[in-house]
Amino acid sequence: MRVLEVSNYEEMSALAAELIGAQVLLKPRCVLGLATGSSPIGTYERLVEAHREGRLDFSQVRTVNLDEYCGLRGDDPNSYRFFMDHHLFSRVNLQRENTHLPNGAAPDLEEECHRYEALIQSLGGVDLQLLGIGRNGHIGFNEPSDSFPPVVHTVQLTESTIQANSRLFERIEDVPTQAITMGVGTILKAERILLIAGADKRYILEEALTGRVTPQVPASVLQLHRDVTVIVCREE
Ligand code: GLP
Repeated sequence: MRVLEVSNYEEMSALAAELIGAQVLLKPRCVLGLATGSSPIGTYERLVEAHREGRLDFSQVRTVNLDEYCGLRGDDPNSYRFFMDHHLFSRVNLQRENTHLPNGAAPDLEEECHRYEALIQSLGGVDLQLLGIGRNGHIGFNEPSDSFPPVVHTVQLTESTIQANSRLFERIEDVPTQAITMGVGTILKAERILLIAGADKRYILEEALTGRVTPQVPASVLQLHRDVTVIVCREE
């Protein structure tokens, strides 16, 4: 595992975008695993810049996102599909049919989980997976639990996650209580993993990277992966 300390969010975003950009240069038809939340917004901003300056071509890239809220359609401004369209997909030359997220509005969520897991494998797996980390150590929406979930599944969000994510909703009652997420097993199948964390996550990050590997701190499982790069900020 490589842990790269940077001064601030700007530096974190620039470095993360360089690493993702390098993956695209190395393999133009790569599969990028993408994340939502505040942490990757700056990274996406830098990728858009690189594309506009003619340095990055996404025309063959395929993307799969970690997770999606249940019950929100893709055109709902709080859905992760909307977030991705807004921050990245509509601003670079990704082909829309090459961008994938779980469908949180699917009538049969069980079936949707199977479809999404199979889709990821049918693309040949993820070359580079971008991750943030939740305050309780969650990755994707894999909340602390008694075992590491192997595949894409639905989850009940914890109170602390609902609280943390409510800042993006008008009212806390509007935050969905369920989500579909890649399993920890799905995430671990990625060839390479890039985790980005702001200074406010240093505490949980330290526990995840140096403490015991336990499903109570889902990100701790990254200690077992062969190719993880962590970028962490010293300051807000
Ligand atoms: C959400 C997402 C996670 C993300 C986490 C942290 O719960 N499902 O993938 O890592 O939030 O978000 P932020 O970067 O906004 O702190």
